[in-house]
Amino acid sequence: MMNTQITIPEENHSSWLNTPDPKIFLENAEKFNNLMMMYRCTIREIQTKLEVLDDEFSVQYKRNPISFIKTRIKSPQSIYRKLEKNGYDFTPQSIHDHLNDVAGIRVVCAFVDDIYTIADLLASQDDITVVNIKDYIKNPKPNGYRSYHMIVEIPIFFSKGKTPMRAEIQIRTNGMDFWATLEHQLRYKQGIEKMDGYEIISEELLRCAKSMHNMDNEMQSIKNKIGQFHDI
Ligand code: GTP
Ligand code: MG
Repeated sequence: MMNTQITIPEENHSSWLNTPDPKIFLENAEKFNNLMMMYRCTIREIQTKLEVLDDEFSVQYKRNPISFIKTRIKSPQSIYRKLEKNGYDFTPQSIHDHLNDVAGIRVVCAFVDDIYTIADLLASQDDITVVNIKDYIKNPKPNGYRSYHMIVEIPIFFSKGKTPMRAEIQIRTNGMDFWATLEHQLRYKQGIEKMDGYEIISEELLRCAKSMHNMDNEMQSIKNKIGQFHDI
């Protein structure tokens, strides 16, 4: 017979999955699925807001400030790890109250000024509350990472009423996204930090981040020059 026992890393952890009773387990799994559905709906609402702004722009200015949007729901393993690391219970209420990044939306823009335009337009909508902003464009991380991060809260209307839901929105240029994707892939390679030449790779990555930044600035100034004659 297959071993169906679920191993929870910490003994006696106050966890809603830590139950030998299959009936209770299934009830809890259903609550978890329901919460993930709520996060998927949150993503849909925010994605639509972004697409509306992009659509309006394309009619007004004949160009799209948003190149593409990527979304993701945090995996159950990552949700569990983050709650455990911060000393919180693994329950739907706790996930809702303590995690800001279960719903993730990445907005990739053509130009640096598009990032701030999109961020400001979204923040000014009256159903959106900005909970936190981290501007890693004005203040890049020491490794060279650049991006504009917003945690927002938005009421979502379900059959039993509205629930305030949070999401993490990362807004960056194509260049910043290109860099961050490669850096992320490298960082998550097992044992890379102990590899010979890792420091050189980090320095090279930092140099690439700076070139990318220069390129973004040059493209922005070309756009500004064209913009003196045409609305773009
Ligand atoms: P997390 O606990 O990882 O969610 O970080 P945080 O709560 O301090 O938030 P922060 O805004 O700093 O980072 C959130 C997310 O931004 C990460 O999950 C990544 O997707 C992205 N990010 C932040 N720093 C880096 C970085 O140095 N490289 C890359 N590739 N992505 C980063
Ligand atoms: Mg995160």
